[in-house]
Amino acid sequence: MTAERYPVPVTALDMEQTLATKMAENIRFDPTDRDFIRDPYPTMRQMRERDPVHFADDGYWVVTRHADIRALFKDKRFGQGDFIKNIQLFYDDDFDVLSHSAYRWLSKIFVMQDPPEHTRMRGLVTKALSAGRVEAMRPRIKAITDRLVDNMIANGRAELVHDFCYRMPTTVMCDMLGIRDDEVTDSLLQDLNQAIADSFIVFETRAFSSEELNRANRQIDYLTAYFDALFEDRRQRPRDDLTTALLQARDGDAKLTAEELSTIVIGLFGAGFETTAHMLGNGLMCMHRWSEQWRLLCDDPTLAAGAVQEALRFEPSLQATYRTALSDAEIAGVPIKAGQRVLTLLGAAGRDPNVYDDPDQFDIRRKIDRQLVAFGGGIHYCVGAQLARLEGQVAFETLAQRLPGMQLDLAGAQWREAFFFRGLERMEATFPSA
Ligand code: HEM
Repeated sequence: MTAERYPVPVTALDMEQTLATKMAENIRFDPTDRDFIRDPYPTMRQMRERDPVHFADDGYWVVTRHADIRALFKDKRFGQGDFIKNIQLFYDDDFDVLSHSAYRWLSKIFVMQDPPEHTRMRGLVTKALSAGRVEAMRPRIKAITDRLVDNMIANGRAELVHDFCYRMPTTVMCDMLGIRDDEVTDSLLQDLNQAIADSFIVFETRAFSSEELNRANRQIDYLTAYFDALFEDRRQRPRDDLTTALLQARDGDAKLTAEELSTIVIGLFGAGFETTAHMLGNGLMCMHRWSEQWRLLCDDPTLAAGAVQEALRFEPSLQATYRTALSDAEIAGVPIKAGQRVLTLLGAAGRDPNVYDDPDQFDIRRKIDRQLVAFGGGIHYCVGAQLARLEGQVAFETLAQRLPGMQLDLAGAQWREAFFFRGLERMEATFPSA
């Protein structure tokens, strides 16, 4: 992954101290601020309590209360709106958005689209990720996880973020797409992970330097070429995999163009591991930071499903979603003009005391059900939620069963320098008793 420009040690994550400092200042939402990235929750709490529909300096609204976010997801007056205008907000009106392949790609993925385009493309993917198909993947997911754990035990140590948290869901996605084990080399995985990390920055709500944009463009071009070649291979030699299924759907009812096909597959591939990897890393970090939680899991690995939910509530790997007002509207009585952009802070909703008792307490026994907003809601609700939950459950359960003595170097762990996708850059692990 990209080297961190502002290393932020996890142990410096001291909520009370940061809260005291921030409370003394005026509310300011700046997702590029290093202190905010290190620990966004005190600021989110302040916003939720004192300015729940906040107008940020960059000219968009930020919503923090659980109930308002849930209502927004269902409100048809909000959608994705005008992509070019939404991006120009961070630059200026002359900025040529679609001359950048990374933004061109972003403009076409269905999470950025409104019906009917959204409905057509989403339908295709939902079929591939149906409950039955996902559950059928359990044995493969378990086998992939066990193989990675075998390697870590053999090495006696691991850089957990890359050797396990990224590796596991990326291998699962490769498996789904039909990229065989012998084709999944270390360097291919590394290249694909890096390409997604470099290009997915365009989801962040800020302007990028030309260096960052050039890198994002190059990586989207690399991913497009890689998946175009994969589709071409399957066109000639069909297999029983998602790549072949999407290809066949292209000429079926969905009538997808070749560009739409590679756009979908890059989005699915990246969404399929970037968020899941961080969910695993964030969850493991929390369970070791409050080590009685790790002991609870080791004593009763059936708590793994609850640990996944709690990790997603407490440290959601996707911190926000966007919407645009399609007409004049209001949120909790605050008027929002047509065309204005709204950011929903999922991390703030996860700590809302109106929904969760003692919300700053990490507890894997907490009962969380439909109130979780970490997978979004409404028509854009995450299509991969079930797969992500299954991967998390298998991962946490297997690690607790096979590596209960795992020790994490929390002092050396570092957050990535990004707000939208919240996760760790690296975290060393040793296995003294394995
Ligand atoms: C812990 C892991 C994950 C988290 C936290 C997560 C979170 C989210 C969230 C919050 C949204 C809604 C975005 C919005 O409303 O703008 C979303 C949408 C989406 N997710 Fe996930 N996701 C995860 C895993 C996955 C996986 C494994 C896949 C695919 C295999 C996936 C594919 C997608 C897609 C394609 C959408 C767009 C849905 C639409 O626009 O209709 N996600 N995800």
